[in-house]
This record gives sequence, C-alpha cells and structure tokens, in this order.
Amino acid sequence: MNIIISNDYDELSLEAANLVAEIVKQNAYPVLGLATGSTPEGMYKILVEMYRNKKIDFRNVVSFNLDEYIGISSGHPQSYYHYMFSRFYSHVNINPDNIHIPNCQGNDCQVICKMYDEAINAAGGIDIQVLGIGSNGHIGFNEPSEKLYVNTHVTDLAEETIKDNSRFFGKMKDVPRQAITMGVGAILKAKKVVLLAYGSNKANAIRTAFNGEITTSVPASFLQLHSDLTLIADRDAVSLLDISG
Ligand code: GLP
Repeated sequence: MNIIISNDYDELSLEAANLVAEIVKQNAYPVLGLATGSTPEGMYKILVEMYRNKKIDFRNVVSFNLDEYIGISSGHPQSYYHYMFSRFYSHVNINPDNIHIPNCQGNDCQVICKMYDEAINAAGGIDIQVLGIGSNGHIGFNEPSEKLYVNTHVTDLAEETIKDNSRFFGKMKDVPRQAITMGVGAILKAKKVVLLAYGSNKANAIRTAFNGEITTSVPASFLQLHSDLTLIADRDAVSLLDISG
C-alpha cells in the first residue's frame, strides 16, 4: 500500500484530485468509481477548478457512484444523486449518459443491482475507485457483518452509520435505514483504489483496516488484498496505524 500523509484537508483533497486527474488524462475512455461523504468534497472542488482552468476534460469520462440511499428521492438534498450533481457533475463536461448512480426505490432492486454490475463490466471495469471509510470500517455501504457481498446489493445501514450520517439529516429518525451499494467485488476489481481518510474519528477504522488481518467485521480490511491501493490521510487518521515498517 502506498500511503500519502497530508498536512491538512486541502492537501489531502489536492493529492486525491491529482490522482483522479492523472487517470482522466492517461485514458481515452476513463472509468471513475466515485464516492460521496464529507471527505471527498474538497477533491470534487479541485477537479471542478481544474476543469474551469482547462486542465482537464471530462468529455469521455464514464462514472459509477458507489452507493445511494433507499427511501429518499433523487431530489432530496441528502441524496447522493443531489450530492454528486451539486458538487461535481453539473459543473464539468461529463456526458450525462455516462453518469451512473445506483438507484432503486421499488421492488425491482434485484434487476437494478444486476444491471449496475453489468454496466460496470461493459464499461471495461473501473480505472480508479475513490473511497471514503465509515467510522465502523465500511466502504460504500458495505457494512460490518458476518458476510460481505461481491456484487451490487441492497443493505441495511449499521446503527453506527445511521448515527454518523444523522449529522446531515438533523434527526436520527430521518436517516434512511437502507441503501443500494456496489459490492466489495467491483471495488477490489478496480485497477486502482484510492482511500481517503481525514480526522481522528477515522483513526480506529484505519487501524483495524490495515493491521494485517482481513475480516468481514471491517469491510475496508479487504483493501489490503488490492495490488494498487493508495491511502491518502492526515496525521490524525493514521495516528493509530503502525507505519514504521
Ligand atoms: C457514507 C458513505 C461512504 C463514505 C462514508 C464516510 O455513509 N456511504 O461512501 O465513505 O460514509 O463518510 P464521510 O466522508 O462523511 O466521513
């Protein structure tokens, strides 16, 4: 694993944006796996700036978002659809037909999940997967559990995640209880994975994810199996990690 330790949030965001920009520039048809949450917000800001300064072109980019809540509409201010369009997609020249955000609100979820994985495969797989990490070690909405799923699926949110994400909804009771998420299979199949972690509330998740053990109770620990993983973190997030060796 390659570890980049940043001095502050701006530096972390710039490092992440540079890695994404590199892939966009190198590939004729780049396929991006994108994450939401507060951590990558700065990265999206910088990518938009790069686009405005004509340093990057998203014309041929295909994107796949990791996850979406079930139970709120795309128009809800806390939907990941709204997050992605308001912070990124609406501000760059990505072709709307190339944007993929999983979404199922009815009883057709199984079909939608299958189609999502097929679309990722048809695009040739993901060139770079950007990830955040939950304070409980989740990636996407692959929550700690007895078993994890390879493919896109519907999942119940863990209590800790509902608590963490209540800061965006105001009240615990307004946080959706379910989500659709890419499985760990598509994440691990990405050619390159970039994990972003910022702040001391991620220190324990980072410690348990990279302590040499792999367990479904810390989904991010499976990232240790990836051959091209970069962790971009500030000092607080890696404060419990033994990086001496
Ligand atoms: C959310 C998302 C994840 C995200 C994580 C951390 O619930 N499903 O994709 O990485 O939690 O979010 P934050 O960056 O706000 O701490």
